[in-house]
Amino acid sequence: MFRTHNCGELRLEDAGKEATLSGWVQKVRDKGGMIWVDLRDRHGITQLIFEEGKTEKPLLDLVKKLGREYVVTATGQVVERIAKNDNIPTGQIEVAVGNLKVLNASKVPPFIIENETDGGEDLRMKYRYLDLRRNPVQESLILRHRINRATREYLDNQGFIEIETPILIKSTPEGARDFIVPSRMNPGEFYALPQSPQTFKQLLMVSGFDRYYQIVKCFRDEDLRADRQPEFTQIDCEMSFVDRDQVLETFEGLTKHLFSQVLNVELGPFPIMDYQQAMARYGSDKPDIRFEMQINDITSPAQGKGFNVFDQSESVLGIVVPGGSEYSRKQIDALTDWVRRPQIGAKGMVYVKCLADGSFKSSVDKFYTVEDLKSWSENCRAKTGDLILVLSGPKESTRKAIGELRLEMGRRLGLLNPQEYKPLWVVDFPLLEWDEDTARFHAMHHPFTSPNEGDIALLEDQPEAAKANAYDLVINGVEIGGGSIRIHDRAMQQRMFKLLGFTEEEAKSQFGFLMQAFEYGAPPHGGIAFGFDRLCALMGGSDSIRDYIAFPKNNAGRDVMIDSPSKISEEQLQELGIRTEGLKD
Ligand code: AMO
Repeated sequence: MFRTHNCGELRLEDAGKEATLSGWVQKVRDKGGMIWVDLRDRHGITQLIFEEGKTEKPLLDLVKKLGREYVVTATGQVVERIAKNDNIPTGQIEVAVGNLKVLNASKVPPFIIENETDGGEDLRMKYRYLDLRRNPVQESLILRHRINRATREYLDNQGFIEIETPILIKSTPEGARDFIVPSRMNPGEFYALPQSPQTFKQLLMVSGFDRYYQIVKCFRDEDLRADRQPEFTQIDCEMSFVDRDQVLETFEGLTKHLFSQVLNVELGPFPIMDYQQAMARYGSDKPDIRFEMQINDITSPAQGKGFNVFDQSESVLGIVVPGGSEYSRKQIDALTDWVRRPQIGAKGMVYVKCLADGSFKSSVDKFYTVEDLKSWSENCRAKTGDLILVLSGPKESTRKAIGELRLEMGRRLGLLNPQEYKPLWVVDFPLLEWDEDTARFHAMHHPFTSPNEGDIALLEDQPEAAKANAYDLVINGVEIGGGSIRIHDRAMQQRMFKLLGFTEEEAKSQFGFLMQAFEYGAPPHGGIAFGFDRLCALMGGSDSIRDYIAFPKNNAGRDVMIDSPSKISEEQLQELGIRTEGLKD
């Protein structure tokens, strides 16, 4: 028998019992007369003890040969510890081992397998199976498992049916590049891996399934960041005969259920903010509303006073840093350097200090009177002791830049409490985005999103003004999910493809199946997809989704453990009908 208990189970009440445990040797401490071994499994650590004089000699010799990460089975009596360890649940007892069997030896691991490790990211990824032995990493995956279970529980209770959709499909445009798979049986032809099951879930609505969900892998060949992986998981859902508010209610319900079940956190109601408001107040379509510091438009009071930079700017925007009037020259210079970095892209930054005596000190005192600065401060609702930071330039980029500055100030002032969760819905996105490079419209969400009913008339003459019946779920500044009410009418879908610059033939060859399906009684429908990895990272308190994926890829899209992507043999290439001449080695 390998075990009577796991390594996290034994307590003081078990003292006197005989127990058999199996696990990995985390640490051996040989103090001359006594040897302690920390034995670890997924459930915890139990201390084994061997004592000169009490433990038989051959057993002692064997213990002295144990190395880190050996796999052993130990049997012995549970005894009360003299020196107790209150930091671990089994810290009251130890097992006085009478019998030990080495099940497998281990090479010395390339990094320490403990909560705090000395292994760098690359090394841990190369030996990910060892990294996965560490407690914090295991806990992240267990959290993922619990969120997964709670999701299924909620959606099942709401009448959603889990249906698998194919992985070898044809390209669906969602804004990223497709991963392509050559077909041996159809030389010169290719499958694409789904960027999402979007069209299939819509077809399932045409089929009458009413409510569908799937926890599903999606694939996007795009540049990677901490919150993006080339393969990631969505909680993908679709519903028939619903309007926007019913979808929002259902998935607000899912989100609340997950936080309550998994984290014991009760979320309040989710506010609904329209896209324009989010951009104007927060400079972002995924606002972090854990703190205020909203953006103020001071274009009008700032212009016409002879300061060229502001006079020539489309927008002059300010945020108020509470209590910031004490900032030193050095601190302000550092912030100016920060906004000038290419990622933020501001040309410079103006500041106004609201001093205790009611006067103002600013970097533009030459151009503005005390009265002028007072009107800015009133406009921004700044108080005595506050600091106003001002950026200017084209409206859109300045909003984004000051939105980033707002977040940075929130970070620096400790206003981003990781224990606080502030969800909201962002709605009424523009339907279309103009792309300068290709000189055509792109769907901001995807081509299947319907315009707001009242905006359909705009599609003819002013398509850029039309709003989409789309919504994003944002929590603490992270886009957790997005969805929309779909087009379910063939003529409207065709019109949309036309607006997006598809010729009739292109639309037919890529989406003929969907448009045809719409001719056979497609119900009104809508849905959403949550980024499951992002949700796990958010709920686990991390910025990186990699921690919540068992075998993630690095920033170059590589799995360094299995060494993928990798070359394939000439025979395989030939079989697939892929020519390699001209390819770099
Ligand atoms: P969207 O493209 O907004 O919508 O994706 C939904 C959610 O998936 C997550 N996500 C990602 N997570 C990790 N790595 C990535 N590369 C990545 N890309 C996206 C985000 C995002 O909010 N078919 C539509 C959904 C619908 O309309 O129902 C779709 O895929 O959290």
